[in-house]
Amino acid sequence: MILSTRFANLTLLVSIAPLLHLAQAWPAVYPEPPPGPLEFDGTKLVNDAAHPWRPTQPGDTRGPCPALNTLASHGYLPRNGVATPKQLINAVMEGFNMNNKLAIFVTYAAMLVDGNLVTNLISIGSKTPRTGPNFHGAVSAGGLNTPGFGVEGDASLLRGDAYFGDNHSFNKTLWDEFVDYSNRFGGGYYNLTVAAELRHRAIQRSIATNPNFTLVAPRYFTAYAESALIIGAFLDGRNTDAERKIPMDVALGFFRDSRMPADFHRAAKPTGNDGVVEIFSAHPISPGGNVGGVDNYAPDPTSANLAQFCVLYENFVQKTVKRLYPNPTGVVRRNLILNLQYFYSGQPSVAGCTQLFPYGQL
Ligand SMILES: *[C@@H]1O[C@H](CO)[C@@H](O)[C@H](O)[C@H]1NC(C)=O
Ligand SMILES: *[C@@H]1O[C@H](CO)[C@@H](O)[C@H](O)[C@H]1NC(C)=O
Ligand SMILES: *[C@@H]1O[C@H](CO)[C@@H](O)[C@H](O)[C@H]1NC(C)=O
Ligand SMILES: *[C@@H]1O[C@H](CO)[C@@H](O)[C@H](O)[C@H]1NC(C)=O
Repeated sequence: MILSTRFANLTLLVSIAPLLHLAQAWPAVYPEPPPGPLEFDGTKLVNDAAHPWRPTQPGDTRGPCPALNTLASHGYLPRNGVATPKQLINAVMEGFNMNNKLAIFVTYAAMLVDGNLVTNLISIGSKTPRTGPNFHGAVSAGGLNTPGFGVEGDASLLRGDAYFGDNHSFNKTLWDEFVDYSNRFGGGYYNLTVAAELRHRAIQRSIATNPNFTLVAPRYFTAYAESALIIGAFLDGRNTDAERKIPMDVALGFFRDSRMPADFHRAAKPTGNDGVVEIFSAHPISPGGNVGGVDNYAPDPTSANLAQFCVLYENFVQKTVKRLYPNPTGVVRRNLILNLQYFYSGQPSVAGCTQLFPYGQL
C-alpha cells in the first residue's frame, strides 16, 4: 500500500517534471566572466559520439543563425535553444573554432539587446518562458528572433526581411538562389566570390522590395560577417585546398537541418571575420537605408562603417543599449554594468576603444 502510494507520487512527479521549470522561483543571477580561449585550438572531430544530432522537440527554439541552431541540435548548447552567455561562447569556440574575442563580442551584444539580464539566459530563437519572466523595467528579452535591435536584421541571405513578417523558417526560394549563385560564380560551391555576389544581391533585393529597409551598424557589420562566416565555420578543418569552398549538400545540412556532415571537423585555427573586406570591396555600399519608399537608398552618416569599430561600439552602448534601458536600477543596473564590461573585453586587441560607463561602475 505504502509502496503503491510512493509509486503514484513518483508518477505524478515525472508527469509534471517538464512544468517545474515554469513554476520555480527565478533567482537573480550574477553573470560570470566570459571564458578565455580554447586550450587546444586546432581542428578536431566535432560531430562526435558525445554530440549526436537529434531532431528538435516541441518547445525547443531555433532561430536566424544556422551555426547556433546546429550547436543546439548537436548538444553543444542546451538542445532547447536557451543558454547562458558562457555556454554560447564555449559552444561557438568548441564546435566551430570561432576566435575568443569575436565570440565574446557578439554574444554580449546579443545578450544586451535580446537576453534576460536578470536570469542571464537568452533564446537563440523566439521568445520563450524558459528564459524566465519579464523583469521589472525590462525590454522584451525576446531572443534572437526579435527584429529591430540590429544584431540580426535585413538583407539576410536565407531569410526575408522583418518587414515582410517575421519568418525564420527555411526559405526554399532563397535557397534556390543560393544554389544558383554558387553554380554561376563558384562552380557549384559557395566560395568568397559567391559570398560577395550574393551579399550584393541580398542588399539589392531589399532596396528594391522593402520600403523600410535599413542597413546600419551593428547590422551593417553582421551582414558582411554572416556571409564570410559561412565559409569560416562550415568548411571542414581538414581542408587543404588553396580554395576555400562549401559543397551545396553541406550548406543545406547546416541551413535546413541544423546538422553537421558526418565526420565533420571544425576549423583548423580560430576564425573571425576573414573575408569581410573582400566581400565588401566587390560591391561597396555605405551604411544607410530606404527613405520614403523602395529604390530610395540613402547613406546614414551617423552609422559606423566597417573601418570605424569604435563608433560601432559607442553607438551600440550609447544609443541601442541606453535606449532600451534608460534608467535601470538594482540588479538590472548591476548586470548591465557587468555585461557591458564583458562586451567591451571582446573588442579586437587593435581597436583600442575608450571604455564607456553609461550606468556608472560597481
Ligand atoms: C521567401 O523569400 C522570398 C524573397 O524574399 C519571398 O518572396 C517569399 O515570400 C519567401 N517565402 C516564404 C515561404 O516565406
Ligand atoms: C516601417 O517603418 C515605419 C516608420 O518607421 C513604421 O511605422 C512601420 O511600423 C514599419 N513597418 C514595418 C512593417 O516594419
Ligand atoms: C513563414 O511564412 C510562410 C508563408 O507565408 C508561412 O506558411 C509559415 O507558416 C511562416 N513560418 C513561420 C515560422 O512564421
Ligand atoms: C570561386 O569559384 C570560381 C569558380 O571555380 C572561381 O572562378 C573563383 O576564383 C573562386 N573564388 C575564390 C575566391 O576562390
